[in-house]
Amino acid sequence: MTDNNHYHDDEDFIMAFQDSCDKPTLLLIHGFPLNSNLWVPQLDDLANFVRVIAPDLRGHGQSDAIAGPYTVEMLADDCGDLLGHLNVATPFVVCGLSMGGYVAFEFFRRYSEHVAGLILTATRAGADTAEGKANRDKMAEMAKRRGVTAVTETMLPKMLAPKNYENDEELVEFLRGVMDSTSVEGVMGALAAMRDRPDSTATLADIDVPVLIIHGADDQIIPVAEAEAMAQAIPDARLVVIPNAGHLPNLEQPDAFNDAVIDFLDYLGIDEE
Ligand code: MLT
Repeated sequence: MTDNNHYHDDEDFIMAFQDSCDKPTLLLIHGFPLNSNLWVPQLDDLANFVRVIAPDLRGHGQSDAIAGPYTVEMLADDCGDLLGHLNVATPFVVCGLSMGGYVAFEFFRRYSEHVAGLILTATRAGADTAEGKANRDKMAEMAKRRGVTAVTETMLPKMLAPKNYENDEELVEFLRGVMDSTSVEGVMGALAAMRDRPDSTATLADIDVPVLIIHGADDQIIPVAEAEAMAQAIPDARLVVIPNAGHLPNLEQPDAFNDAVIDFLDYLGIDEE
């Protein structure tokens, strides 16, 4: 069972989040332009092992649509403030998917003493190229002029493995609903955060906690080579590549994803209660 919650941040916006129960905490940070509903299969299946906390980043889901630009520092601090507000026991495990991974790197740089392990999924360490930055600006302009649905139309076919996009209509429509619910402010703010995020490559060698890297074999947004490079550079890393999954392995192959997380939690000494 999960509850929908809201809390007032000091900065005067209301942040929404989903929470499960009193166990070691797993923080799940969603990607772009998504929200905590990305994590439904994890909120359902991992709650026997951990207290799952899945915020909606500012501008996304049920969190307030405050105007950007955002930064990954801001997004990491929003998550840190939420965990502080909830007074969770430390250390905890942090999992970020794609943009959530960019935030997880920043979270680790800021709060490493509180982190027991990291799960990096469908993400990369490097910063945007000049071309990538220009594309962020083009997409922000598209969101401003044509609304969030135009962004969804552009991104949706690339979010899933081609086979899943063609065959799993229910998943496609679920995802469309999640993406369309993001505010224009959230889309534009997050695009700025991703465009200007720091390069985390130098952080990889400094990660002194165990890391699980999970990547979809058919990810069309971030190639699996990025995950392999991170696995080589992080001292204590294990890589799980999930077949028949694209950019959202936790949704496309939830059992394989959750099994990899449960094995990792076991490695960290966190067992089912
Ligand atoms: C995401 O899925 O969070 C974004 O697509 C990542 C990115 O565009 O770099």
